[in-house]
Parts: sequence; C-alpha cells; structure tokens
Amino acid sequence: MTFLSATLSRVKPSPTIAVTTKAAELKAAGRDVIGLGAGEPDFDTPQNIKDAAVAAIAAGKTKYTAVDGIPELKAAICAKLKRDNGLDYAPNQVSVGTGGKQILYNALMATLNPGDEVVIPAPYWVSYPDMVLLAGGEPVIAAASLETNFKLTPEQLEAAITPKTKWLIFNSPSNPTGAGYSREELKALTDVLMRHPHVWVMTDDMYEHLAYDDFEFCTPAEVEPALYGRTLTCNGVSKAYAMTGWRIGYAAGPVEVIAAMRKIQSQSTSNPCSVSQWAAIEALNGPQDFLPTNNEVFKRRRDLVVSMLSDIDGVTCPVPEGAFYVYPSISGLIGKTTPNGTVIENDEAFATALLEEADVAVVFGAAFGLSPNFRVSYATSDEALKTACTRIQKFCASLT
Ligand SMILES: Cc1ncc(COP(=O)(O)O)c(C=O)c1O
Repeated sequence: MTFLSATLSRVKPSPTIAVTTKAAELKAAGRDVIGLGAGEPDFDTPQNIKDAAVAAIAAGKTKYTAVDGIPELKAAICAKLKRDNGLDYAPNQVSVGTGGKQILYNALMATLNPGDEVVIPAPYWVSYPDMVLLAGGEPVIAAASLETNFKLTPEQLEAAITPKTKWLIFNSPSNPTGAGYSREELKALTDVLMRHPHVWVMTDDMYEHLAYDDFEFCTPAEVEPALYGRTLTCNGVSKAYAMTGWRIGYAAGPVEVIAAMRKIQSQSTSNPCSVSQWAAIEALNGPQDFLPTNNEVFKRRRDLVVSMLSDIDGVTCPVPEGAFYVYPSISGLIGKTTPNGTVIENDEAFATALLEEADVAVVFGAAFGLSPNFRVSYATSDEALKTACTRIQKFCASLT
C-alpha cells in the first residue's frame, strides 16, 4: 500500500535528471564540467520585453487576470498566427498558459479518456509520453530513423494509427534532433491524417523561429487547411524570445477544446503570471529583428558542433534544420571500452562515462526514445562548445 496516487506509478522519473544531478555533483566537487544538456537559449531576454514587464508592474498589472489570458495578449497571438502562419483564429479559440508545457498538458487532460492512444514520433521531447500517461492515455511510439534524419515517414505514421488513436503529437523543428519537416514532408503526413478523420493533430511549434539555412517552417493547419478543425496549434515565447523563465505558452484550436482547457486551468493554476503576459505581448508585437541575429549565432554553433562531431570515427551527426540541438548516433562505438574499463553497452553508458571520464554532460538517446544516440544542446558559448567537442573527440579516440 502506498499513500501516493496509482497514476503516478505509470510515470517514470525524468531520465534526464540522472545526468543533470550527476553533473551538478561533479561541479560541486570542483570538477570543470561543461554542460551541454540545457534546453534553453543562453541569450538574455531582449531589453524591450523586459521594459514592457517593468512598465506593467509600474502600471499595477499585478492582479488576477482572465483565466486563460488577457484580451490584449490573445489579440497579439491571433495577429502572430495570421502574420507568420497564415492561420485565422479568433480570441475565443486561443488559450494562454504557464509555458508551452502547461498548454500541452491541459490539452491532453482535456481530451484523453482511458485507452485513448496518442501517436508520438521518436525521438520525442521527454515530456510527451509521460504527460499522455498522466492524462490516462496510452502513448504509441512511432520510431523514425537516422536514415530519414529522424523524420517520420507516412508509412510509419499510417502503421501507428489505430481506431483508438486520438492525437498525433507533431514537433518541428524537433527537440531533441533539431529535424525540421519541409512542406512536402509534412504534407505527406497530413495526407495520412486526411484518411483518418478521427485523428487530431497537436502540433508543438515551440522552435518555429529557430530555423537555419533555407529551411522554411510550416505547421499542419497551414499545409493542409482541411485539418484546421482538428488541429491544436501550440507555441510559446520561451525559446525564440529567450523567455524560458517567464512561463508563457499558448494554443489555438477549436472552441470546444479551448474551453475545456480553460476549465482545467481555472481549477488548477488560474491565469499565467500577469506581468509575463504583458512581456509576451511586447515579444509578439515588438521588433523581431533580433531573431535573425540570434539565428546567425546558433547556425555558426550548429556548424561547429556538427563538423567536430562528424570527424569522430563511429559517430554520425546529421545536420539539423532548426532548434538548438544535434542528435548524433554512436552506433560505431557500442561495445568499446573506456580507459577506466567501462564497456559502452548503450547510450546511457556512453553519456555516463563521458561525464565521469571527460567532464562533458550530454543527455543519452534512450531518454528521447531512439538509441544509440546522444543529445547536445549548442545553446552555449562557442568556446565552451569547442572545448566540449574536443573532449568528446579525445574521449571517443581513447575507446578500445
Ligand atoms: C519541444 C518542446 N515543447 C515544449 C517545451 C516547453 O516549453 P515551455 O518552457 O514554454 O514550457 C519545450 C521545452 O523544452 C520543448 O522542447
């Protein structure tokens, strides 16, 4: 007998925590650990956004607000979805929550019944399967592969759909791979969904603005307008505007789902932080010119990391289209032994040994549902990345 909820036993603790905790322990013990695990930009929030928050505080915008967002922010979100994605949404089709994470969680809580299946392409963001489990649903993992640069094929999607499928969770550019679907690749997936009218799509567009080279972001309801009525378009200001701590995410979709999400939020957290909402208005309505400037930096870092990791025998590192992650395969290193005598049996053993023997913290691929790989976040300085990649090169060369 346990005092804790039975639901909780369906959920595993975040696999990334072991690495993060270990890295923190080693740092505290005085070791020069370089962390490549963080899922947030190292840039500061732009000044105009901070100024808007300060002005909101001065103006007394410090009280409860409407549960799922103030009208001014909903208007800014509707304008953004029209401007960037060509999508028409009315304010009553928009829900604002405490980060993209709460939005996705609300949506799953609002729609899943026991036995409902949710198709999650792997590699996936760590929270999707556990959120589905917490909401009482069944995650159905559809594994993509290195050969398609971690993008799900229409055949793989088709094979994962059953009469019980409720949602496909779609994420492009992706955490953890950085893979971004072209319009044609996404259209091939939406064509599958058109053949299965009972399946809805929850698209997590969090990394929309972090796209490099000639990659053009697109989102399901834009690529296949006939899916508009069964699409929940989720996004937020955390990544592109370097606002991870402000906690503002949003979704747009059918009124009935948005109202259900509001009901859940009204009985849990109520409104997202009032001051952050005013800051998010400035983020969405204000100048966007720092986005290409930041992206130049991210692209330079991506190219550095891909090139240094690709030089390693046994490592294959696809070039991602967006986000700030790379997801190299280490299939050529499995079975080798480290100087300390550890056998690299899988990617978790690799990440653990890399941390213990080379002072670099990365997240192992099993955490994201596709092995043997590891995730590097390149949202850190060029110097730290160079040093870390040099350490990874030396560590891999030392394996026998
Ligand atoms: C794919 C993806 N979706 C959603 C989120 C959550 O974003 P937020 O910080 O706004 O909750 C993250 C954060 O890491 C993410 O990587």
